[in-house]
Amino acid sequence: MSVSYKDLGLVNTREMFKKAMAGKYAVPAYNFNNMEQIQAIITACLETQSPVILQVSSGARKYADQTLLQYMGQGAVEMMKVHAKAKGLKEIPIALHLDHGDTFELAKSCIDNGFSSIMIDGSHHPYEKNVELTRQVVDYAHERDITVEGELGVLAGIEDDVVAEKSTYTKPEEVVDFVEKTKVDSLAISIGTSHGANKFKPEQCTKNADGVYIPPKLRFDILEEIEKQIPGFTIVLHGSSSVPMEAVNIINANGGALKDSVGIPEEQLRKAAQYNVCKVNIDSDGRLWMTAAIRKHFNDKPGDFDPRQYLGPARIALIEMYKHKNQNVLGSAGNA
Ligand code: G3H
Ligand code: 13P
Ligand code: ZN
Repeated sequence: MSVSYKDLGLVNTREMFKKAMAGKYAVPAYNFNNMEQIQAIITACLETQSPVILQVSSGARKYADQTLLQYMGQGAVEMMKVHAKAKGLKEIPIALHLDHGDTFELAKSCIDNGFSSIMIDGSHHPYEKNVELTRQVVDYAHERDITVEGELGVLAGIEDDVVAEKSTYTKPEEVVDFVEKTKVDSLAISIGTSHGANKFKPEQCTKNADGVYIPPKLRFDILEEIEKQIPGFTIVLHGSSSVPMEAVNIINANGGALKDSVGIPEEQLRKAAQYNVCKVNIDSDGRLWMTAAIRKHFNDKPGDFDPRQYLGPARIALIEMYKHKNQNVLGSAGNA
């Protein structure tokens, strides 16, 4: 039996993006796989009064179980309502989004199981096939008032099963045609971001006095050209973790072995949010802070073995990180 997101108290992204476009900020799209992550996201977004997109990859859906996941989305809304009332805060809008859906069947399954927003990523297909697949998902989704994100251009790094050696920047001249033919509500573009904690090779970067890698700047010229071609249309940035050296250093000081980690500097994300970028995807930074807190905990207290003893501090680290993003990077705080 299928269930609509509306019955779960979730919202689609239409109103969120309209407000973000007018207010020149970006809505955070945070990935989650488990309870501590979803608790941290909801707590941080409620306390900073930010709208939020809870994002689930196909791998996350397999990991968490697709049935349980529906209830996690519903539970996130219910938890937010109870905490909002207890703290005297306004309720925040929450969307449940499929990240990097790659087939119509997966998109349909998520739609039928309470998702309010879908990404169909056909960017690895030839252009015409990308158009066809995206349009098929849009038709099914729009009949149910669900919003759809497409993708044009390929990000370097790993997009679920799709391994892209090199990034192929989005071609601004294709954007209008793609949006007209597919009727997508938003579009993920490639302007130099990529997935994971190693977004650039060391040889692509310069180093500052502290030995920290400074990556090349994002291609704001492409973003500007896209805005000229299709004014007022919602753009999405994937691969937008900043890979904070503080977290990487804690991991490595406590037995980890992360090498040549480099992310997108926060000031570039702040700048992107001033453009038509209304959704910014962040996953790796959460993974890093969670790992840093857990590694440190085990080093400091090797006798602990109750998961609450190490997942509790990890959850606190996540809450701090998400609040920081909303307040100081994306500008979504105070816009619920
Ligand atoms: O874009 C990919 C996200 O970071 C999700 O990664 O497929 O390992 O869950 P995942
Ligand atoms: P990061 O790996 O930079 O966090 O990107 C996540 C993402 O784009 C999810 O779709
Ligand atoms: Zn992504």
